[in-house]
Amino acid sequence: MLDRALELKAGRDRGVGGDSLAGRTVALYFERPSTRTRVSFGVGVAELGAHPLALRADELQLGRGESVGDTARILSRYLHAIVIRSASHDTVEELAAAAAVPVVNGLTPRHHPCQALADLLTLRERFGELEGVRVAYVGDGNNVARSLAILGRVAGVEVRVATPEGYELEPGVAAIDTHDPAEAAAGADALYTDVWVSMGDEADAERRRADLDPYRLDEDLLAAASDRAIALHCLPAHPGEEITEGVLYGDRSAVWDQAENRLHAQKALLELLVG
Ligand code: CP
Ligand code: NVA
Repeated sequence: MLDRALELKAGRDRGVGGDSLAGRTVALYFERPSTRTRVSFGVGVAELGAHPLALRADELQLGRGESVGDTARILSRYLHAIVIRSASHDTVEELAAAAAVPVVNGLTPRHHPCQALADLLTLRERFGELEGVRVAYVGDGNNVARSLAILGRVAGVEVRVATPEGYELEPGVAAIDTHDPAEAAAGADALYTDVWVSMGDEADAERRRADLDPYRLDEDLLAAASDRAIALHCLPAHPGEEITEGVLYGDRSAVWDQAENRLHAQKALLELLVG
């Protein structure tokens, strides 16, 4: 998939992949805000020759109580795939269980697999191969950290995760779990962080900011990493909070390529699932 993503990226201006999904329709169903996922999927579907159909709960009968299962059965009669971002991971599982077409998780509070695909693509681009690359994720043990650790393991990437107590991933998901950011960062090829207050965590914002304050991705942490280390962030960022302005906009930052790579990685994913 990553090989194909790189081909699609290199050939984008020449229209490579332009008829891979000709005549198909892919629904983009978002229950929560999104900039990157929404736009990269919309553009990606169109660039593969398919039609993106944006859906909102309040415009579907789902918003008036039609079940997720019946919605999945009906949508499957019209569509070739459904991309969904939901406030409930169970909703995505339920939709996928009842749907006859592929369902792509565009973020739930538990997982963000499309982000992790783009993260792997970015590491591959920067380092040539993935096997043995070391990534230190520092901050909240959230959806982004979990998907990075799961897909990292599949790809041979060593994902170390440093979180405060009470913010850990489940044991065994990451290669190394620690409460010490410097331990995770030592010699790492990439330092990665995400927001301290994810969608749905707003009520807890003050406590989270206090607990996570020692886990900022700053210049000192970057200095503890390897000489070739890059900085990653799934975005949206809060400069001065989980990442310093200097790191986010500095010459080690790969976050803008990382965000662009959402498009290429997801096009490869859609070709595989729908093509
Ligand atoms: N990284 C990411 O998924 O961004 P959006 O919330 O803007 O889609
Ligand atoms: N962890 C963040 C990621 C946003 C792309 C959230 O769930 O809000």
